[in-house]
Amino acid sequence: MVEITSNTDALEAVRTVRQVRQYEEGAVSPDDLNQILEIARWTGSSRNTQPWHFVVVDDRRMLKQLSELRENITWVADGALAIAILLPDENPPHEAYDAGRVTERIMIAARFLGLGSGTAWFGEPEREAKAKQLLGVPETMSCHSVVVVGPYITSKDPRPTGPKPGRKSLDELVSYGAYGETR
Ligand SMILES: Cc1cc2nc3c(=O)[nH]c(=O)nc-3n(C[C@H](O)[C@H](O)[C@H](O)COP(=O)(O)O)c2cc1C
Repeated sequence: MVEITSNTDALEAVRTVRQVRQYEEGAVSPDDLNQILEIARWTGSSRNTQPWHFVVVDDRRMLKQLSELRENITWVADGALAIAILLPDENPPHEAYDAGRVTERIMIAARFLGLGSGTAWFGEPEREAKAKQLLGVPETMSCHSVVVVGPYITSKDPRPTGPKPGRKSLDELVSYGAYGETR
């Protein structure tokens, strides 16, 4: 559990939510899982449609099979569990936004509970189709990603070809009043 004794601590905990790809062996307790799912459940969505369905996967064989669907997600095998995000595939732009929001909330909840988490995308339609088959997802629904959760070692990216770490500066990202204007 992250120690939060002030708003500053809480803001810092949110700021430092990172993609975790290296996990320790060990479980996520049923209480922690429940809290994460509660936070997910209360995520806002387009017209409050709450389009998601979550499949919690903690079977090691299944995690391994999912991890083998794409080179970039081999680390899925090492998490304590993964939460697959299923969507009705009726309004992809809205659902993509909703899925992003719920993913981030799961990751923030995990961080507050002292756990690591990371989003893993299945990628091309053929890979997603295999993931859907493994997870028993109905043909009509989509399942682009899982959020892996577990006790973690580090948020350092172990992949040799991972993206550049860090963030752009606020100067690069923000205008005031109109595009390109500074303060
Ligand atoms: C839409 C989306 C898809 C992603 N897919 C993957 C993925 O398949 N595998 C992976 O290791 N990271 C994936 N990531 C994580 C990004 O690489 C990560 O958010 C970014 O590098 C920033 O990492 P940091 O928060 O640890 O600095 C994805 C992130 C997003 C938003």
